[in-house]
Amino acid sequence: MSDTTENVGATEPRSKIKRVSWQKPAIFCLCLVPLAWLIVWAVAGDLGANPIEAITRYLGDWALRFILIALAVTPIRVLTGWTAVGRFRRMLGLFAFFYLLLHLSSYVGLDQFFYWSGIWQDIVKRIYITLGVAAAVLLALLAATSTDKMVNRLGGKRWRELHRLVYLAAVLGVIHFFMMLKADYTEPTIYAVVLAGLFGVRVYKKWV
Ligand code: HEM
Repeated sequence: MSDTTENVGATEPRSKIKRVSWQKPAIFCLCLVPLAWLIVWAVAGDLGANPIEAITRYLGDWALRFILIALAVTPIRVLTGWTAVGRFRRMLGLFAFFYLLLHLSSYVGLDQFFYWSGIWQDIVKRIYITLGVAAAVLLALLAATSTDKMVNRLGGKRWRELHRLVYLAAVLGVIHFFMMLKADYTEPTIYAVVLAGLFGVRVYKKWV
């Protein structure tokens, strides 16, 4: 999730650095927009007949979307030549983790009311929750190793290999979504196709 490894040693012209310095806070604020919408809907009482389910699902959607957005950074760079976009990857990845934590908190606090034995039963009996937990563990590992210090400690090559696990987390996230549904698989199918496309660009970049 770090933007460090591929930018080490890059010397940016001053004008570019200035542009990036306002772009980061702007993108940070943009990443908070889904949360702001949720708060507006909640305050307006617009969350429908089952607000807890709506909140949990909405936050799960955004966790998955941010993983895909973070994964789109390299393909965007490869296809457009816009190299500066790499500076936003770590922030986008951490926002995926942020929305995941909110998704998880909504499930644990609002849906289950901190009923830990019920949560444990869910984890061991409902495969889609088990897979969600596996994806969450991977994302926690990636978030914990996203700092510059960890990049230096692990070394660029090992760090990059570790962070390829984000694809596995995304695949688990998509399967988690598929498995919780009983009908209309349109949305997870779209995510699966986007993920396959992003992976395809990676493979293309490596071999061509
Ligand atoms: C500890 C891990 C996780 C738990 C306990 C969990 C739990 C849940 C639950 C209970 C739902 C169904 C909500 C409902 O119908 O009331 C759900 C849906 C969902 N979760 Fe998770 N989840 C976890 C991890 C993840 C991760 C890692 C992702 C993304 C990568 C994710 C993305 C989603 C999505 C996209 C949905 C469906 C949203 C929709 O219907 O629009 N979840 N999750």
